[in-house]
Amino acid sequence: MVRGELLYEGKAKRVYQTERDDVLLVSYKDDATAFNGQKRGTIVGKGAINNQLSNAFFRQLEASGVPTHWLEAVGERETLVRRLTMLPIEVVVRNVAAGSLASRLGLEEGGRFPRPVVELYYKRDDLGDPLINDDHALVLGLATAEELAAVKQMALQVNEVLQGLLERAGMLLVDFKLEFGRTVDGQLVLGDEISPDTCRFWDLATGERLDKDRFRRDLGRVEEAYQEVFRRIQEVV
Ligand code: TMP
Repeated sequence: MVRGELLYEGKAKRVYQTERDDVLLVSYKDDATAFNGQKRGTIVGKGAINNQLSNAFFRQLEASGVPTHWLEAVGERETLVRRLTMLPIEVVVRNVAAGSLASRLGLEEGGRFPRPVVELYYKRDDLGDPLINDDHALVLGLATAEELAAVKQMALQVNEVLQGLLERAGMLLVDFKLEFGRTVDGQLVLGDEISPDTCRFWDLATGERLDKDRFRRDLGRVEEAYQEVFRRIQEVV
């Protein structure tokens, strides 16, 4: 598939047109940002690792019946996906208190929840991606009630699949962020990526953070954490 015109450049990926109208080529970058782009840096090798990890996760999800945009890997850091019209919503699933939820609700990081917590964020960089509820999404016209129900059901299914996979790889799936969109023929599917940029993975035995929090919080050994997740996931898929 020929790499066509650059359609969009985000913080961590570039998206190119292909010779097919309904297929896009995603190229993962080593660039890392945090706090809505205020902190910037590079995580050497991240693009290749996130591409291959995300592909491994999407393959497992497809095999488990979760519809996704994933088509095929075409290079170390490039993948073909179905073109989607994205819902302007980030769906976060949390199994363990951490990050913004721990701060917002005054919880210590590390407490396991008795059931997963699903949150919606309005994807608006200029507003800092605010937390919203279903009513907000509906009155803003971000999604229909049916879409919200479908998205939450798929997000919980993703949680089930990923939790099992991560556990086999000796990691705890603390939380993660998903994005959904509609294909050209109207199917609602999972899009974007699943990687240490968009998830929290903690070592099951030691609690060590093996994700982008190492970059966000200046914990050091950032590249090593991404490599470690990649190594462990390759062993279980
Ligand atoms: P949070 O605790 O900062 O709200 O993050 C929740 C999860 O969402 C965590 O796994 C990291 C992921 N995430 C993103 O993928 N993109 C973002 O911009 C943010 C803030 C979080």
